[in-house]
Amino acid sequence: MSRKPVSKAPAGKQDKSLDQPKPKARMVTVYIMGKRHVVPEHATIMRAIEYSGQQIIRGAGCREGFCGACGTIYRLPGDYKIHSGLACTTLVQEGMSLTQIPAVPMEKAIYDVEKLSPDVDTIKRLYPVVFRCVACNTCTKSCPQGIQVMDYIQAAKRGDIAAIMDLSFDCVACGLCALRCPAEIVQHKVGVLGRRLYGRYLAKESKELGARIKQVESGQFDEEYASLMGMDKASLSKMYYERDIEP
Ligand code: SF4
Ligand code: SF4
Ligand code: FES
Repeated sequence: MSRKPVSKAPAGKQDKSLDQPKPKARMVTVYIMGKRHVVPEHATIMRAIEYSGQQIIRGAGCREGFCGACGTIYRLPGDYKIHSGLACTTLVQEGMSLTQIPAVPMEKAIYDVEKLSPDVDTIKRLYPVVFRCVACNTCTKSCPQGIQVMDYIQAAKRGDIAAIMDLSFDCVACGLCALRCPAEIVQHKVGVLGRRLYGRYLAKESKELGARIKQVESGQFDEEYASLMGMDKASLSKMYYERDIEP
């Protein structure tokens, strides 16, 4: 996602329309943790929670759909289904009834990736639970990233490490799939294992990466790094948003 700095009108040519009263935002009624609130219709769930006067101190991180900290479930009027989404990227809807799930506790395997092999035996040993999958596809329907979650679990059962890596690559580890899984599978942890195994054992070596690591180790960027560490937040932010982004 790229951002451009807000452009300003030249001096003496200020946009007169800015002096006009802004049209009122249309409002919708939502139920946050069971309490009724009226919020702007264009708000994300996260903005709506804050608009309602509450401070989010857990269950928020990047605010841009990357960190997976803001898993939320909601229902809509006349619809018995439980829907799920990220609070920072899902817009409110009239009559939405929502609850944030800031943490989804689940077991993860402990391992040293240097001592594993990229095959089905590793999956069997570390996450035998994947073989309980009943192919209901609930995980895929729950995923706010649109990932074919069931497919990467099937790939795990086959020991197809490259397919796990490929299919799970956009996972933000929100845990919403695991929360709904009737077989108690921890899909995102399986995805992490697959990507680690792929990166360690199957990915082609990148010459460019090797060269860059040597540059870092030789101290080529030490001065620039020290300068960045000495900058204040506003300067860092300006630099970040004005950086060149490859198309
Ligand atoms: S929700 Fe669980 S059981 Fe259903 S398809 Fe996904 S991994 Fe398999
Ligand atoms: S695969 Fe699961 S943990 Fe990853 S983004 Fe989708 S729902 Fe969230
Ligand atoms: S706050 Fe990071 S994904 Fe929503």
